[in-house]
Amino acid sequence: MKILVTGGAGFIGSNFVYHMLAKYPGYRIVCLDKLTYAGNLSTLESALKNPNFKFVKGDIADKEAVDKLFKEENFDIVVNFAAESHVDRSIENPELFLVTNILGTQTLLDACNRYGVKRYHQVSTDEVYGDLPLDRPDLLFTEQTPLHTSSPYSASKASADLLVQAYYRTYGTPITISRCSNNYGPYHFPEKLIPLMISRALADESLPVYGDGKNVRDWLYVEDHCKAIDLIIHNGRVGEVYNIGGHNEMSNIDIVKLILQYLGKPESLITYVTDRKGHDRRYAIDPAKIHAELGWLPETKFADGIKKTIQWYLDNKKWWQDIINGEYKNYYEKMYGNR
Ligand code: NAD
Ligand code: DAU
Repeated sequence: MKILVTGGAGFIGSNFVYHMLAKYPGYRIVCLDKLTYAGNLSTLESALKNPNFKFVKGDIADKEAVDKLFKEENFDIVVNFAAESHVDRSIENPELFLVTNILGTQTLLDACNRYGVKRYHQVSTDEVYGDLPLDRPDLLFTEQTPLHTSSPYSASKASADLLVQAYYRTYGTPITISRCSNNYGPYHFPEKLIPLMISRALADESLPVYGDGKNVRDWLYVEDHCKAIDLIIHNGRVGEVYNIGGHNEMSNIDIVKLILQYLGKPESLITYVTDRKGHDRRYAIDPAKIHAELGWLPETKFADGIKKTIQWYLDNKKWWQDIINGEYKNYYEKMYGNR
């Protein structure tokens, strides 16, 4: 089996590469990644030593490069993680999100059709469903929930999902889509809530909590997401959407306090800052379909996952310190300087 993993130098894609190499020693895994600010080749250092793994630097929206790669490799399965993934950056600069997340998806779908790929899997997000109110804990996102997006990021992901479904209906492209809730774990880029708070708390720096801190996310350990995608690409029904989530809703402020507690740092580091524009209030996934059809259930409890994650950041300081000492410094100043 030959699998193309796009965006494999990023957070979830790299965890998926390691999961697949460990579980399927007979598979060949090729990673196509543009190495944007969010992609990091050092993340794939161990994978690069595996003869079943190959890294190719390239853009999923570059038709010629994609065509050449598909022609050379004859993939059975394509799993598309490659995306601009940060909501705050999409508010500052929407255009790149449309190019990568929509046109990049189209370029991959066209190549799948041209070269008869047996499965195209689109890694999507619960953000395509918009948000839920805090006072209705009974409401969850199901696969039938209408798409209703808030940010340029989520609009670009929803557009890509519609395109993927259109290719299935129009050309019969064998697709599946998964929509997952917030992931956390190793190799999470330190601009996102959990790694940002860990890295700043360790340096005794202020922790910028948006708005009232009561926004709720449904957190899932990244390995559980990888296992769900593995099940979908092997056993999922073509043309279907699968929601993935852990029934683990937590408010941002509770997460930040938990991190401070584990690190033995004071709550006085918390600083409430101006809210994110269009900030989604609550996400919550109903994972009943993937459980019933594919037997998937999350395996890592949040209490264990967050401890493992914090320990990973303590053990791998070089990985994230190299990032925050580089170009990222200017990003933080630009985004948080006047907040
Ligand atoms: P990330 O930002 O950490 O990584 C994205 C990767 O894609 C990087 O390696 C980057 O270099 C690469 N990339 C960006 N543009 C590219 C392009 N044009 N061509 C090739 N490669 C390109 O993202 P992540 O958090 O790992 O998310 C991966 C996917 O999962 C995304 O599609 C995202 O929408 C989705 N998702 C993320 C979460 C989450 O909590 N992080 C939850 C649900 C779904
Ligand atoms: O739900 C899935 C989505 O989760 C993915 O599709 C996205 O790619 C991923 O980035 C993530 O989006 P969020 O916007 O939920 O994640 P982020 O880590 O940016 O923010 C989580 C919450 O924390 C959100 O309510 C905003 C808040 N926040 C974030 C940052 C960076 C803060 O309060 N302060 C911060 O500095």
